[in-house]
Formats: sequence, C-alpha cells, structure tokens
Amino acid sequence: MPVCRICGGTLSEFVDLGAQPMGNAFVSPQDPDDDAASFRFRLAVAMCEACTMVQLVDDVQHDQMFHQGYPYRSSGSSVMRAHFEALARRFLAQDLTGTDPFIVELGSNDGIMLHTIAKAGVRHLGVEPCGDVAEVGRANGIRVRSEFFDENLAADVLAQDGPADVIFAANTFSHIDFLDSILRGIKNLLAPDGVFVFEDPYFGDIVERASFDQIYDEHIFFFTARSVQDMAARFGLELVDVELLPVHGGELRCTLAHTGARPVSPAVTELLAEEAAQGLTEPATLSRFADAVRELGDSLVTLLRELRAQGKRVVGYGATAKSTTLLNYCGIGPDLVSFISDSTPEKQGRLTPGTHIPIRGPEAFADPYPDYALLLAWNHQEEILRKEAAFREAGGKWIHYVPDVRVE
Ligand code: SAH
Ligand code: TMP
Ligand code: ZN
Repeated sequence: MPVCRICGGTLSEFVDLGAQPMGNAFVSPQDPDDDAASFRFRLAVAMCEACTMVQLVDDVQHDQMFHQGYPYRSSGSSVMRAHFEALARRFLAQDLTGTDPFIVELGSNDGIMLHTIAKAGVRHLGVEPCGDVAEVGRANGIRVRSEFFDENLAADVLAQDGPADVIFAANTFSHIDFLDSILRGIKNLLAPDGVFVFEDPYFGDIVERASFDQIYDEHIFFFTARSVQDMAARFGLELVDVELLPVHGGELRCTLAHTGARPVSPAVTELLAEEAAQGLTEPATLSRFADAVRELGDSLVTLLRELRAQGKRVVGYGATAKSTTLLNYCGIGPDLVSFISDSTPEKQGRLTPGTHIPIRGPEAFADPYPDYALLLAWNHQEEILRKEAAFREAGGKWIHYVPDVRVE
C-alpha cells in the first residue's frame, strides 16, 4: 500500500477514476498503439491521514510524462499571457530590486513568464526539461537549462549563478512526485531573504466545483494552505503568504520563505481558518466529492446520448489534458463528440488519449458550426466565449459541465 510522499503517513483513498492514459499522450493516427498511447494507470486520489496532503495513489514516471515532444504550450491563452506578465512585473517591482538580482523558474515552458524578466535585463534561469518547448523559450529570449530540477541541479545552479532571490513554479510543483528533493534544493538555492512562489490548482476549488477533471497523471498533489504549511515546515521553510487566483479553474499561489525570515501574512491565518470551517479534508467532505463526480459524469453522458439520438452535431472545444480524464471516465468517444477544436499546432491532427477523438484546428469549428460545443477548456471560458461570440449568434449552444452540466 503506497504511503504519503511527504510524511510517510497512511493514505486514505476517496475517489477512483479507473484505468486512464496520460493526460497529454495525444495519439498519432499513424501509430495509435505505440507505448505512450497504450499506457494505462489507476487514477485514484487519497488524503494523508497524518499531514492531510491530498495526492494520487499511483503515479506515472516523471520522464514518461515530460519528454522532448511534450505538447503543452503555455502561451496559447491571452489571459494566461497577461496573468504571467503582471506577475513578472510584480517580481521586478517587489522582489528583484537588490543589486544584480536573480530569479529561477521551474517549468518555464515557452517562456510565458520569464520573457518579461529577460526584456527587463534581469538575471534569470528557466529550468525546462522538455526539449522542444525549452527551445521555444530560448527563441523567446530566455536562458534555459533543459533538465529536471532537483536537489543536484539546485546545487549546480547555486555554484554557477549564486543564490536566487525568487524561485517560481506555476503548474509545475504539483506535477513532481519527488517534492522532497525539490524542497531540499530550494532550501539550498534560496537567498536568505528570498521567496519560493508557486501556483497550482487549489483543492478547495476542486471540491467546491466538483471539477474532477483536474485529476490526471501530471497533477500528483492537490494543495491546501494546511498541507502546504505542514510540508514547508518539514524542510525549514515557512508558508508566509497565500492568494487565491481565478485562473485555470481556481488556483492557490503560495509564498514560502526560510523559517522566521519574513512575517506571516494574515491571509495565511484566514485561509487556514476557512479550510477548517469548511471541513475541507474531512472524510464526509471527500465522500460527498466522490458522489458529485459520479453524478456529474452520469448527467453529461445522458445529455450527450440524448443529443446524439436527436441527430445533433456536437464537437469539443479545447483538447486539454483535463479532458482526458473526463472523456475516459465517461466513455465519451467520436460517436458522441465528433472532433475537438484546439489552437495548439502540436495537438492538431492527433487523437485524444484513450478515446481517439480527432483534434482539428480552430478553423474547423466554424466550418460549419456544430449544434453544440462541449467546453472542455472550461478554465478559459471567458476568453473562448468572447472569441467565439459568432457561434452563439449563429444559434449554437455551449455545453458546460463545471460546476454542473448545463446548456447555454
Ligand atoms: N509554467 C507553465 C508550464 C506548466 S506545464 C504554465 O504555468 O503554463 C508544466 C511544466 O513543468 C512542463 O513544461 C514540464 O516540462 C515542466 N517540468 C516538469 N517537471 C519538471 C522538473 N522536475 N523541473 C522543472 N520543470 C519541470
Ligand atoms: P489548459 O487548460 O491546460 O491551459 O489547456 C487549454 C487547451 O485549450 C490548450 O490545448 C489550448 C486550447 N485553447 C484553444 O483551443 N483555444 C483557446 O482560445 C484557448 C484559450 C485554449
Ligand atoms: Zn503525509
């Protein structure tokens, strides 16, 4: 029986989404049965009875998920571009003000955040193991080491570049099963007054919205203020600030500093109190979440079958990694959703993992418009509904499924 990756405590499983492929293992139609496409693992989530960290029970090897051709490109969303530009400007104004400051980003992807830092002429390093996207980052003007961050790499960066005033990771820290090595590396690399800032999906939002498609191979940990505070303390770090973010369906941005180095913001105490009042990691809450997942899946499949029976044409919008969980859990294939429109060139022409729905470019969406569009990239709802206003004007309807199934 697996134990907690942070403290070795007993895991209490509360939801099992069955045998699933990797969320980003988009299938090549020429080679639909290659190793990556045929791979399955049991996607189940548990909470640690000792430290409350919510985590996958089984995981996929890190280098199997993150490889040369990893297809995710951060800059596909204008909202996310603006989000990371604002954060880069805040780092520049607040945290990178000393003499010759230095910032390190884990999972720098295509340079969505660091390119603003690079333009400002501030010393930086992106750590991005996936070769193709690391190259895109370089083309966008950032300095990148195409390696996995861990304690050895941290020691090497410290020797070459000196201590970091800011270490940042967006949608990356929760993706790494060896957080102990990462945190030892960060403790070593961080300047005495430095901060480690990370943002990842917030477990509180997942429970509130029953957004179970946030659960897939890359999302190994689901943080709460409480579990992060406990984890930080084990590595000589302290949770000094938290912010709830609206992006990606609800995220938690945490700021860690060396223990005692910075005052703890009242926001930390407030969120801890809120989580306790909500009973966020109480067994009754977790079991209600598991019930909500089943109900949501059932009502979506019922709706799609009804639409098929009525001869309606339904397509998907956004071939997200999240949708791999939804589609496989519900058994939704090309018979119910004829294709998925996605703006990422690396995904177009491929098939969805496990369910083999073809992915086509956004031009296919309007050619002609379908009767219904299933909004799989629901975390980008505002941006997409704005961009595709003509679809509704032409009589098309969106199918939403977070926080519940509705047609609008
Ligand atoms: N920060 C971007 C990208 C998130 S995708 C954003 O928020 O949009 C997660 C990224 O983390 C991938 O590009 C992946 O290659 C990278 N990654 C995975 N493991 C890593 C590790 N051990 N060290 C550094 N980056 C890692
Ligand atoms: P994400 O939820 O992991 O960020 O993935 C979003 C996916 O949706 C990504 O493959 C790009 C795609 N997308 C579009 O096709 N059109 C859009 O307007 C946006 C914002 C995203
Ligand atoms: Zn634990």
